[in-house]
Amino acid sequence: MKKIRNHVLSYLQNNREGFVSGEAISQNLGISRAGVWKHVQSLRRQGFMIEASSRCGYRLIAVPEKLNPDEIKKGYENHPFFRNLIYYPAVDSTNREAHKTAEKGAPEGTVILADEQTHGRGRKGRSWFSPPGRGLWLSVILRPQGIPPEKMSPLTAVTAAATASGLRKLTGENISVKWPNDLFLNGRKTGGILAELKAEPEQIHHIILGIGININHAAGDFPGELTNTATSLQMETGRQINRNETCRIILLKLASAYNTFLQEGFSPFRELWKEHNITLDRQVTVHYGEKRMNGLALDIDHEGALIIEDARKEKHRFTYGEVGS
Ligand code: BTN
Repeated sequence: MKKIRNHVLSYLQNNREGFVSGEAISQNLGISRAGVWKHVQSLRRQGFMIEASSRCGYRLIAVPEKLNPDEIKKGYENHPFFRNLIYYPAVDSTNREAHKTAEKGAPEGTVILADEQTHGRGRKGRSWFSPPGRGLWLSVILRPQGIPPEKMSPLTAVTAAATASGLRKLTGENISVKWPNDLFLNGRKTGGILAELKAEPEQIHHIILGIGININHAAGDFPGELTNTATSLQMETGRQINRNETCRIILLKLASAYNTFLQEGFSPFRELWKEHNITLDRQVTVHYGEKRMNGLALDIDHEGALIIEDARKEKHRFTYGEVGS
């Protein structure tokens, strides 16, 4: 099965200058045209970009760029977030793997990076679509010292602002933040952040800061329920984005943001967050626990909390929740 898939790939690679018909592949390899289609689909799931046209056949557009820790670290080998960068071709979830690695005593700044997640986790128990060859799926182990757990709640907003500004620099596109943890581009979700805390009431054991970015997905890659809500950097920019470079930029931004946040709190990020946000000045619904509240998203305060003004002009402060329109 895998062997035939590789033959289909070689055939496409040897004919990269144009389309090859399904008929030609099927005759050359002695498989049915439905079989060709099945292998093309499987190659696409591996990250190969293959154009398919009912009139012309198939054309290989791009092979998946490999994630490579040496490439990511280039020039920053001794940087705290690059000293212990652990790469897996596939894991269930980098957040889950990072928790396990942290329990074994891994130092602050350890990064778990995977090409594919088989059970990527999103917020509120949702799953996070993480196919191979397409995105950036990483988790950073943090061990803030002497800080009470509640002081860390703005970390998601700090991460979102730092990541959005890094991605804007990289792509020139208007990547934005939707409170509290979504990265949006042109009205669709292109990334998310999942911070998980292991703590006792007074003491943090570790924080796992998970970042997922849809980078080189093609339009047809997203499964049903995401086709109308998700996007990737490539879909919006029309060009393949280098995942190694993206990873380097994000980790550098994040390391510097985290240091500033530990020393000065959320205040230095408030303006940056506002510059990148698409939440404020809109009528929104905040979902928090089992409840919801409608109102105008007025501001984000110096602790990263969202301020909502209800119809009676009363103000409400949210440190957690989700915003819908
Ligand atoms: C969300 O928007 O719901 C948060 C998504 C966070 C996804 C990332 S991908 C890397 C890390 N590992 C996971 O299992 N989840 C986070």
